[in-house]
Amino acid sequence: MDIKSLKASAKEPMQAFCKMCPVCDGKACAGQVPGMGGALTGSSFTANAEALRFTRINLRVVHGTDDPSTKFSFLGCDLATPIMAAPMTGAKFNCGEGLEEYDFVKSIVKGAEDAESLGWIGDTANWDMFEAGLKAASEVKRFVAIIKPRKDPAEIVKRFEKAKAAGAVAVGIDLDGAGLVTMRLNNQAVSPKTVDELKYLKEKAGLPFIVKGIMTEDEAVLCAEAGVDCIVVSNHGGRVLDGCPGVAEALPEIAYAVGGKLTILADGAIRSGVDALKLMALGADGVLVGRPLCWGAFGGGAEGVATFIKTYTAQLYQSMIMTGCKDVESIDEKVLF
Ligand SMILES: Cc1cc2nc3c(=O)[nH]c(=O)nc-3n(C[C@H](O)[C@H](O)[C@H](O)COP(=O)(O)O)c2cc1C
Repeated sequence: MDIKSLKASAKEPMQAFCKMCPVCDGKACAGQVPGMGGALTGSSFTANAEALRFTRINLRVVHGTDDPSTKFSFLGCDLATPIMAAPMTGAKFNCGEGLEEYDFVKSIVKGAEDAESLGWIGDTANWDMFEAGLKAASEVKRFVAIIKPRKDPAEIVKRFEKAKAAGAVAVGIDLDGAGLVTMRLNNQAVSPKTVDELKYLKEKAGLPFIVKGIMTEDEAVLCAEAGVDCIVVSNHGGRVLDGCPGVAEALPEIAYAVGGKLTILADGAIRSGVDALKLMALGADGVLVGRPLCWGAFGGGAEGVATFIKTYTAQLYQSMIMTGCKDVESIDEKVLF
């Protein structure tokens, strides 16, 4: 199994939603949400891809690093890689035919586990779908659960507790889902959160608390003030607001403001281990990968997902040799051209 054959196998089951473009930049699937695209013109998805493409790195070969370590310690979990599986839900209406929600999420979390990484699960307006994902996650050793930022905090806490009982090592909210119309239409209003509300959720979480979907320095500072353990610098893969900058553009000043105060992850259009290295050089401690793992799941189940994560990790390892980074902590701005 390799990435090329997995994409070929995923092509048919995903054909209604994904064209498997040679460069995955959100142009061919613009506006396809639900689906695999970005919101409206798709410009936020495209910005993620372009900002990574325009980030250049320094080739360095006068040093002693020939066997770097990709080991990553994340909120108490020892992982073989800083590349984790992003939370994704709605296999049937976003990706294609052939995988029930349980099978899709199981592929993601089991594939991540097999790659010695960590799988994250998401949340939707559909309770049965959330339960199916949670059941799949409960069957692996550890996972992270990200809950929609429901207006009623009791509804968030209820899901935190279920996730904790199922074995979650951390919980959080995808705060960039604060305007999701689909949630409102399903009578499950979502909303932005104040610092006090974040403090409350952190207190109730009883586990490390993550806020996913932070794109500005000031809000990263507010998260740190609220005691948030980890932020994910993310525009939700460009799916929630058209016109955002790419994550690679927003990340450096966020990292400058809150680096060392909380764990910083980033995601958006990572399509290789070199892209992961770039976001880490720009200030992320680790990264999440989204859409490629849908190809992995539809093309080869858990093995397909593991193949993507392992391949990207091998590419990261190789790029660490070529940029002189002996471990993931050493990946910093010196890597950037
Ligand atoms: C099909 C699909 C479903 C997603 N569902 C969720 C979700 O339920 N919760 C969440 O926090 N993010 C969700 N996301 C966003 C991802 O977690 C991640 O932020 C994004 O996909 C990263 O960009 P990439 O796909 O270009 O790697 C979803 C993304 C996709 C493509």
